[in-house]
Amino acid sequence: MVASKYAKCDLMKSEFTQRANNLPAHGLGLSVDVYSPDLLELVRALRDAALEPGYLEIFKATTSALQWMRQQLPDIQLPYHGEGLWSTQPEFPCSGSGRQGVAEACAQLAALRSAWLNHECATKQMAGYAFGTYLPPLYTELSARKTAENLGYLQDQVDQDARARGIDPALVLLEMPPLTYFGCGTLPIPEFYRTVTEQASCGLVLDIGHLWTVYRYTGSWQRQRLGDFTAEFLDTFPMERVIEIHVAGLAELTIPHASGGVENGHALPYWIDAHGAPIPGVLFDLLEQVLSHPCLTSLKGVALEVDTKPIAMIVEEFTQFRKRFGMMVQAVVYRGARASSRLQRLLNADSAEGLQLTSAEEAVLKQQYRNYVQLVTTHDDPSFIGDLSLLGGSLEDLNRYRDIYLPHELLHWGGELQDMFPEACRVLAEADVPLVRFVPFWFSRPRPEQDDYDFFLLKIDRFVEFATEACQAAAMIVLREADELRAAYRAANEPIGSAPVRA
Ligand SMILES: [Fe+2]
Repeated sequence: MVASKYAKCDLMKSEFTQRANNLPAHGLGLSVDVYSPDLLELVRALRDAALEPGYLEIFKATTSALQWMRQQLPDIQLPYHGEGLWSTQPEFPCSGSGRQGVAEACAQLAALRSAWLNHECATKQMAGYAFGTYLPPLYTELSARKTAENLGYLQDQVDQDARARGIDPALVLLEMPPLTYFGCGTLPIPEFYRTVTEQASCGLVLDIGHLWTVYRYTGSWQRQRLGDFTAEFLDTFPMERVIEIHVAGLAELTIPHASGGVENGHALPYWIDAHGAPIPGVLFDLLEQVLSHPCLTSLKGVALEVDTKPIAMIVEEFTQFRKRFGMMVQAVVYRGARASSRLQRLLNADSAEGLQLTSAEEAVLKQQYRNYVQLVTTHDDPSFIGDLSLLGGSLEDLNRYRDIYLPHELLHWGGELQDMFPEACRVLAEADVPLVRFVPFWFSRPRPEQDDYDFFLLKIDRFVEFATEACQAAAMIVLREADELRAAYRAANEPIGSAPVRA
């Protein structure tokens, strides 16, 4: 077992190196959405300011929209930011996400002719429960091994599809997600990614803002200065696998009772990932530290992630970014090309057994994910979570997620309930049924049969069930409003399917 573990590790390293060597340098770019802001308008504004981006990483949209975008931008490299591939989850290969989701991602990679497929190491569906925004994986060894196994499956599917189309296969990249007030598990986060890369040939995306949230929500900010934390983190994190770096905005959730805390008399904000918000200066200082790390040998590109941001702010931030980091990024990308080819000649691993989870381990992991859902959605005695911990973070911060963020997500995010169901909400209010009861109702039972993830449609289905159960008088009204919403949604998305919402 130990020998095969080392053999597999060498094989994965060698495979990664060969794949990374085939990737062209991308340089300084932007990670964008087709619609928000309008991508062609953004490119025009950048060109008017003599700011041609080295690449545009495009977020999942409809395949036809991506094909059209490829035609409009024939000379720019367009790597792909996937969505809806829940590779952290035990059931991934047999799920709708692992089958239809992966097939759709392959079609979109081909439409864009992308060099890589980036996806967050996170999910919006676990143990039969759906969430509006990403939850990080369980940070445990079992979870890392399962994620690696699933990434092997994903890369195989991408390779097979590319072979069938006669194109170069994209490299699968895994992005460390942000912590939204908490993380959960037993394995320090950089060790989790080290374990994944020992057993998978994937590359990584290091998002600088996400790194800041790890500092903030694992309690490290109370023990260490940011620079010291980052130095320690990067020494364990597999920097040699980092293909791309993201930098995006951070902001506090702007709802009541979500203001900042105080450390040593200095306020440290409750920032969370917020692509539409300005990028705080502290992240550019962190970027400089990351770019200076000697193990960053495979880097191909650095992108500002700017979906939902005003175009004028993007142009301004990209101008400053190029001024400060243009030369430095070129130097690191060039160093990466040399280091990679040297490494390829050193490695010679020809075979290794798979290290798949046993069925007993798989059962343990599934139970841990059920516990994870319970931990983040209920106020039950936390002792039931067994040996899972908050990775140094506080129960108070987990409560911030449960009591503020989660209700906000279900009641307001991705469709304001009052706007979606005005009549039904009025009838519920008259019957003294507060909308906040929708939150425990949503998490009252798992729905593993739900294959397709579309948060807007899920919200419609669940609200119909909730209103019907809570108030007889609302039953007919909510059904009618739901039918109208579904029809309007179909009309807005036809004939090309629904565009997912990035979060
Ligand atoms: Fe990112």
